[in-house]
Amino acid sequence: MFENFNIPAELIPSDPRFGCGPSLIPMSYVESLLATGPHLLGTSHRQDAFKKMFKEIQDGLKKYFEVPADYEVVIGNGGATFLFDMIGLGIVKEKAVHYTCGEFSNKWFKSSDSIPWISAEERAFDYGQGVSYSNHKEFDLVAVTLNETSTGVQIDELPSVNDDQILAIDATSGAGQVPCDVSKTDIFFFSPQKVFASEGGIFVAIMSPKAIKRSEEVAKLGRYIPEIMSWKQAIENCRKNSTYNTPSITSLFFLNEQVKEMNKLGYKKCQELAQKKADLLYGWAKEKSYLSAYVTEDKFKSTAVATIDIDDKYSADDLCKVLLDKRIAYGIDAYRKLGRNQFRISMFHNIKIEDLEKLTKIISKAIEG
Ligand SMILES: Cc1ncc(COP(=O)(O)O)c(C=O)c1O
Repeated sequence: MFENFNIPAELIPSDPRFGCGPSLIPMSYVESLLATGPHLLGTSHRQDAFKKMFKEIQDGLKKYFEVPADYEVVIGNGGATFLFDMIGLGIVKEKAVHYTCGEFSNKWFKSSDSIPWISAEERAFDYGQGVSYSNHKEFDLVAVTLNETSTGVQIDELPSVNDDQILAIDATSGAGQVPCDVSKTDIFFFSPQKVFASEGGIFVAIMSPKAIKRSEEVAKLGRYIPEIMSWKQAIENCRKNSTYNTPSITSLFFLNEQVKEMNKLGYKKCQELAQKKADLLYGWAKEKSYLSAYVTEDKFKSTAVATIDIDDKYSADDLCKVLLDKRIAYGIDAYRKLGRNQFRISMFHNIKIEDLEKLTKIISKAIEG
């Protein structure tokens, strides 16, 4: 459909990576890694060079999210998906409630639901809709997804919990730029290959003292939990600025670089920049008759992942393929299981607003001629 479409040189973005994860890793981070020479890569995660970097990440995240001093930053191998199981096995006592509105929040629910000795309840909202909370007093863990990456829906507020309940937030694609008062959560976790510009394979969990206490209580129940999923192991190793088993130093290095960069601006400023990108993309979708924002309610429109439907007369897949082949834009296709004629465009911190603007112009030009 768009094979003969020519893109003027002035519209070519400075970087083609617009995907919603893995995301744009600045080449300057790769150069900084190279500059460490033989002193970091290929050294042990029990040695000082690693521990210094690891502590910088822990301190940097605590500063960025302005969490109380007794919160702990726990990092380990496995990514957010791994934590779905680790939370079900090691944090839930008896009952978890999951507010779901897309593929990832539903996947987390399914992880909890498959553990025979706990019970999990799903409170599901239609895809494209936001979640609203109802009475969940009987549950000892409340599970919410900050930014549903499959649909581009973010939550507008945190649910309230009491002193005996744990509020666990999967913040994977929103952490760092979608508004959230992390000090009001108990486990705020994410994989770093989104806003935090690293690679996949590791998880970051910012834990309240209440969550740490809960992990200790559940450990005493005598249920079998594989050592690799033990909160005790994860927490104790992180207290020594290391991980339970061998991590990817590269991923942690990139994460640290990004945390340092984002701390120069601060969380508030990063949220404002994200909102500007969101205004640009949703404004464009409103202006063009052949486009519409998939998420209709403004308060649930993500400031990290924009999902924009396109009139069925035009194939989003065809255009995505042309832009991919021409090396202009990578990863702007809809979440595969959603099956919509849609663009899903990342607004992660490192993606320049000027490049997003160019992308909107390219797409408009492809359609309007
Ligand atoms: C909201 C959300 N949760 C969980 C995950 C899974 O992360 P990982 O693949 O790092 O385990 C993703 C991945 O895109 C996600 O977007």
